[in-house]
Amino acid sequence: MNYPEDQFSYHIITYGCQMNVRDSEIIAGMLARVGYEEQPVAEKADLVIFNTCSVRHSAENKVYSKLGEYLKLKQRRPDMIVAFGGCMAQLPEVIKKVKRLGADIVFGTHNLHELPSLVDEFRHTHKKVVRVWQQHGEVMEDLPSLRKEGLSAFVNIMYGCNNFCSYCIVPYTRGRERSRHPRDIINEVERLAGEGYKEVTFLGQNVNSFGSGLNEEYDFADLLMMADKVDGLDRIRFTTSHPKDISDKLIDTVAAGDKICEHIHVPLQAGSNRILQRMNRGYSREHYLDLVTRMREQIPGVAITSDLIVGFPGETEDDFCETLDMVQQARFDAAFTFLYSIRTGTKAALLDDQIDLTIKKGRLLRLNKLQYSIAADLNRELEGTIQEVLVEGPSKTNEDRLTARTRSNRIVIFTGPPDLIGKLINVRITKGKTFSLFAETIQIPK
Ligand code: SAH
Ligand code: SF4
Ligand code: F3S
Repeated sequence: MNYPEDQFSYHIITYGCQMNVRDSEIIAGMLARVGYEEQPVAEKADLVIFNTCSVRHSAENKVYSKLGEYLKLKQRRPDMIVAFGGCMAQLPEVIKKVKRLGADIVFGTHNLHELPSLVDEFRHTHKKVVRVWQQHGEVMEDLPSLRKEGLSAFVNIMYGCNNFCSYCIVPYTRGRERSRHPRDIINEVERLAGEGYKEVTFLGQNVNSFGSGLNEEYDFADLLMMADKVDGLDRIRFTTSHPKDISDKLIDTVAAGDKICEHIHVPLQAGSNRILQRMNRGYSREHYLDLVTRMREQIPGVAITSDLIVGFPGETEDDFCETLDMVQQARFDAAFTFLYSIRTGTKAALLDDQIDLTIKKGRLLRLNKLQYSIAADLNRELEGTIQEVLVEGPSKTNEDRLTARTRSNRIVIFTGPPDLIGKLINVRITKGKTFSLFAETIQIPK
């Protein structure tokens, strides 16, 4: 490339889950390597990259409305390059639409690593560059990445998903499941610990099937145990666990590990066996409740969090009440709740008993009310206890206070000196609210 690169700047707009956050760090790393500079103000950037999510209709709407703003801006600043990538870009009807709307470059999740050369091609030819691989290639190691400075880092351990839950677009946007080699993962964790990161979060759509397809006997629990031995690191987290694949070995490992945090995100999705079956989830409510019992028995203080969908096609009032009943019984520490959203190309989109939006919204309100009251109760039960927290930084709502996180992933707000940031300290919980805890320091390390 023969441009005066010090002039050329990029800005990435990221939507969706942690996988996309991680992909954006890799995009930033690749662009930095070819000499581009990050421009914090999107409107001023020479290259604006959309890293998109298609998990629900609302996610896509957000992307389209922002894209519209930038394409309008482009009319005033025709030299601005708009690149469109991520999960939405894997879908043929989206590719057609964004080409029509005026994006300059379209790239998918499987050929993210090609982005620098696609940008280069566009800058030479000024012709639209649309390149989306329909199949994934080999797992790519050694791509550069530019992580945000901080305490916590995301680490991919596997890509893709084989589960084909009937509502979900992810298997179509991320391809089939494949694991990174454990040695590569542990090397990355060691490097991160050396750079001063205190916490890593292992990412995968279904971390419990990690290792299948590798040519050795090695599972997710083995990986966690190896990471637990890495010096300098304080905490290990992971997401997401599929209820059908959580093994006793994993539960024992979370209980045994020093650094492995006692928090398992294990999406239930729905409480009725009929709906779980239609969702193709591969477990029953009885299996799930048994799993919750085993986790609570084996892992003292474990936090169990979940994702729940209301209004899946054919969901009756009785089915929905079974979801409420499961929420009562499982007592989730927190849950993300969603209105079912039709995703073209998935099996559930073909079902003809779609639920009316008003009914869906009513169910979501009732579900949230119940879940929030349980979360508030559980947080109140922690009042007076002593919790180990990792201090993350100034509180977002009040700069005079600090924000920290318990091992169970609860947010804790307290007053203390800024030099506590980055440290593990013990605090006493003074107040438990629905979404956070308040605390006082009881021990300031030297
Ligand atoms: N791999 C993870 C979740 C990935 S998507 C898992 O299996 O649990 C994150 C969450 O989005 C899902 O758990 C589900 O609750 C929700 N979701 C996925 N597709 C959806 C759809 N079509 N409508 C509403 N919510 C959806
Ligand atoms: Fe989607 Fe199901 Fe795969 Fe999760 S396990 S990504 S919900 S298909
Ligand atoms: Fe994540 Fe959204 Fe893709 S949830 S995997 S960015 S569809």
